[in-house]
Amino acid sequence: MSSDLFACATDPRQYDSNEINWGIETGLESPLRRFLFDCLKRYKMKWKGASILDVGCGTAWLVELFLENGAAHAEGIEPSKKNVLLAKKLRPKVLVRNKSLESFSTKRKFDLIVAAMVMCHIANVPKAFKKISSLMNEGAEFHMIVPDYEFGKTPRFDHKMRIKKINGNEYAVETIRHFSGKMFDVIRKTAVYEEAAAKSGLVLLEEVPLHPTQALIRSMPRYKEFRNTVNARLLRFKKIRAEKK
Ligand SMILES: C[S@@+](CC[C@H](N)C(=O)[O-])C[C@H]1O[C@@H](n2cnc3c(N)ncnc32)[C@H](O)[C@@H]1O
Repeated sequence: MSSDLFACATDPRQYDSNEINWGIETGLESPLRRFLFDCLKRYKMKWKGASILDVGCGTAWLVELFLENGAAHAEGIEPSKKNVLLAKKLRPKVLVRNKSLESFSTKRKFDLIVAAMVMCHIANVPKAFKKISSLMNEGAEFHMIVPDYEFGKTPRFDHKMRIKKINGNEYAVETIRHFSGKMFDVIRKTAVYEEAAAKSGLVLLEEVPLHPTQALIRSMPRYKEFRNTVNARLLRFKKIRAEKK
């Protein structure tokens, strides 16, 4: 891949690269997927009877869990062919479309949209929020989890990292992890998302700082040194008005 970290991080086919081993992130047996699920399930009451879209659903494990937990409809979109093939193999009954957020279109509107560790691969945040808003019913919510701005650039474990500052609110980072391979992300301050959301008729209801859970520390003891450190953030937005054309 090229050395332009931003281009690598926002390439929608990044997860088709042989340098990423996403085949281990297939569901709740993965401690990191379990961590995301434990955070999102605080809002489980929103799933019942709802129509839910999982943006960048990976292997679609969360789409299946939404359905098992009472969603009336749930589907996922995922730009990586490799991930979609894996999702279809593991969960043949689950609806997954091989689309990026940018290329997806549907007549359906959703009550809840979720993006777990996906907005760090989006190139144009204002455009992405416009799209998300256009897919939401009025009063619907958008729940996104992103790496924390400070944690994303903190040297940790045995990861090799390269960081490229974009501006005072954003940087791109390459992280090489021995278990899941080489990954690129764009890490942003919450204000970047909040500003884009506001322009698309969404209001930030809540920002939840996330720390490694006891379950994560039990499965991956190296997280213990970060037990009091915010490692990710869950942002909860609500659509309060129709988006401007
Ligand atoms: C860190 S993985 C998270 C996958 C899944 N949400 C999970 O928690 O297991 C990021 C995912 O975002 C997807 N992605 C990257 N760019 C995207 C885009 N423009 N639109 C939608 N999804 C994207 C990737 O293919 C990848 O599956």
